[in-house]
Amino acid sequence: MGIVLGIESSCDETAAALVTTDRRIVAQRIASQDAEHAPYGGVVPEIAARAHAERLAPMIAAVMEEAGQDLSDLDAIAATAGPGLIGGVMVGLVSAKALAMAGDVPLIAVNHLEGHALSPRLADADLAFPYALLLVSGGHCQILRVEGVGQYRRLATTIDDALGEAFDKTAKILGLGFPGGPAVERLAREGDPGAVPLPRPLVGSGEPHFSFAGLKSAVLRAKESGRHRDADIAASFQQAALDCVVDRLAVAFEGIAPVPALVVAGGVAANQAIRGALESFAAERGLRFVAPPLPLCTDNAAMIAWAGCERLGQSDPLDIAARPRWPL
Ligand code: KG4
Ligand code: ZN
Repeated sequence: MGIVLGIESSCDETAAALVTTDRRIVAQRIASQDAEHAPYGGVVPEIAARAHAERLAPMIAAVMEEAGQDLSDLDAIAATAGPGLIGGVMVGLVSAKALAMAGDVPLIAVNHLEGHALSPRLADADLAFPYALLLVSGGHCQILRVEGVGQYRRLATTIDDALGEAFDKTAKILGLGFPGGPAVERLAREGDPGAVPLPRPLVGSGEPHFSFAGLKSAVLRAKESGRHRDADIAASFQQAALDCVVDRLAVAFEGIAPVPALVVAGGVAANQAIRGALESFAAERGLRFVAPPLPLCTDNAAMIAWAGCERLGQSDPLDIAARPRWPL
């Protein structure tokens, strides 16, 4: 049995976790920066990097102490090395390098997207490769065929906004604050999803990619027209987004070798309406539907530690660079 320290700092969550190869999260800490970024209506990279720098070292110390874990007894230190906001990624990766050097422990530089892609296997020992993954968050919007550790086939990506970003922008237009996804979902429950005619960008296209910029502009026009209730706009937006997701998935599934399971990850996986639609999509096709517990869906360090567990035995040089862009 091995134990890995995971570090995550690529966006606005500072997180550290200790995870074992037999899928135990021994200790974990996470601090969100929502309060710092809320006045600006979105994540400010410089503020994020400073907050990571202040919080990460005490957080790692707390996790190690809670677990009674000695640095030199770790089997690896895994840190997000990209993609993400470069200042934050550097804070986490440099911390990991320093600890790896001090404890003479292997460093594993993890692609944040790989962390999301493999996290369902931390929660579910029965989830074998291959599976299809819908990764939908504020920064990511992809459909992947996960074929093994390090083997990911990207079937679809967004040509403009990520799905969570579309929720956040809709929330901003409706004056609901940041982060907006949960607020839009709450308001949508009181509205009529058929009330406001909104476009479904790329629906019907033969390529499975996503696009949400046109939908966001249509939401803005609907709001500015003054002819609709906010709840109806929220419900109609959510319905349009959901229709896009299901249509895009259907196209992606036409083009791939069969997989036994559909997995969803990323913050938008919290949305009950979207989850319900994905469940039906999976049921219609005889697929197992897997949604990891929410704390594992959103950005966290346990998924980075787990990616390290999956990669145990490998190591990266201490001069490896942080990468703002790093496609899987
Ligand atoms: O994975 P995550 O915590 O961070 C990254 O963006 O990587 O995802 C956060 C995103 C935000 O855009 C947020 O608005 C969205 O997930 N989100 C939701 C819901 N909860 C969070 N979107 C729709 N419905 C929700 N209930
Ligand atoms: Zn993420």
